[in-house]
Amino acid sequence: MKRRIGILTSGGDCPGLNAAIRGVARAAYEMFDAEIIGIHDGYRGLIDGDYSEMKRSQFSGILTLGGTILGTSRTPFRDMRKIGDDNIDKVAAMKKTYRDLKLDCLVTLGGNGTHKTANLLSQEGLNVIGLPKTIDNDLYGTDFTFGFHTANDIATEVIDRIHTTAASHGRCMVIEIMGNKAGWLTLYSGVAGGADVILIPEIPYTVESVAKVVKARAESNKGFTIIAVAEGAMTTEEAKMKKKEREAKRAAEHFSSSAFLARQLVEQVGVEARAVVPGHIQRGGSPSAYDRVLSTQFGVHAAELIRDGIFGVTVALKGNAIVHNELKDIAGVPKPVPTDHQLITKAKNIGICFGDK
Ligand code: F6P
Repeated sequence: MKRRIGILTSGGDCPGLNAAIRGVARAAYEMFDAEIIGIHDGYRGLIDGDYSEMKRSQFSGILTLGGTILGTSRTPFRDMRKIGDDNIDKVAAMKKTYRDLKLDCLVTLGGNGTHKTANLLSQEGLNVIGLPKTIDNDLYGTDFTFGFHTANDIATEVIDRIHTTAASHGRCMVIEIMGNKAGWLTLYSGVAGGADVILIPEIPYTVESVAKVVKARAESNKGFTIIAVAEGAMTTEEAKMKKKEREAKRAAEHFSSSAFLARQLVEQVGVEARAVVPGHIQRGGSPSAYDRVLSTQFGVHAAELIRDGIFGVTVALKGNAIVHNELKDIAGVPKPVPTDHQLITKAKNIGICFGDK
């Protein structure tokens, strides 16, 4: 039986998307008679009917390639049911493209927003399978998303490189790691890079607590301090504000989390401080060996689900097993770092400061 599979990548890109696409395609061609349609730029392509029939050869040579061969875009879930100035009913348009293409299944690769829309489409009667990607690792129901480990390797290398220049100059270096809502990447790279202070959105901090560490190190024979701060880290005062108020404050001050903290430390401790923002470097380039393996397994699992006629689910890693969860159970559920996470406890027990004491 021939099966027509649509694939799209949505939201921020990450290393491992192409490896996962290749995993789906190769396993599908291997296991059954498959035709694959690449939807361009995420849900935007599904809404606009922008796609191409893929050839088998297009899935060759992409295992190690960063980004996504299909293109991506951010199409916010909150707008999906809204009819804008263009007068397009986006949900109806996506269903129409699916039907026009005579798809048997749609595979959506993405993070939280992507999964919310995947669940919506599943509830609208389409056969949907999700694959969990994001460098933020904040998708509920999976131990790890693909992209996270590569970003962690990159962020760790950034911290390593900053370490040597920090030590030479006896400076305080504040390194801003991606992650607005979840601090997984900052926590892991902070520990891996030997940071003295790790600040994550889940644990509001006080500048005083960080300043104490910086001062003590400046006065010791170490002389320098490495701080890993998440994009979305906030002080205890900021944590009391509403999200919009907090964002407006940062925008008015023209401060990112690292620039804000570096400035505070210069003023309060009198040290020389620098803010470093590796930014999208953390999302670029070739996936690590770990992510190539994980993405491949996730992609193959999706093809196995198609073969078995199981839809309305998303693939996940639990322990060492590749499994799947119902989309309706995981869509929209956040996965922040639990404040009692073992890695936090262990990090505290080697003296790493989280700014809360
Ligand atoms: O993909 C998630 C993420 O990397 C966040 O950590 C970061 O805040 C955001 O994307 C940046 O998004 P954009 O690519 O739209 O600037």
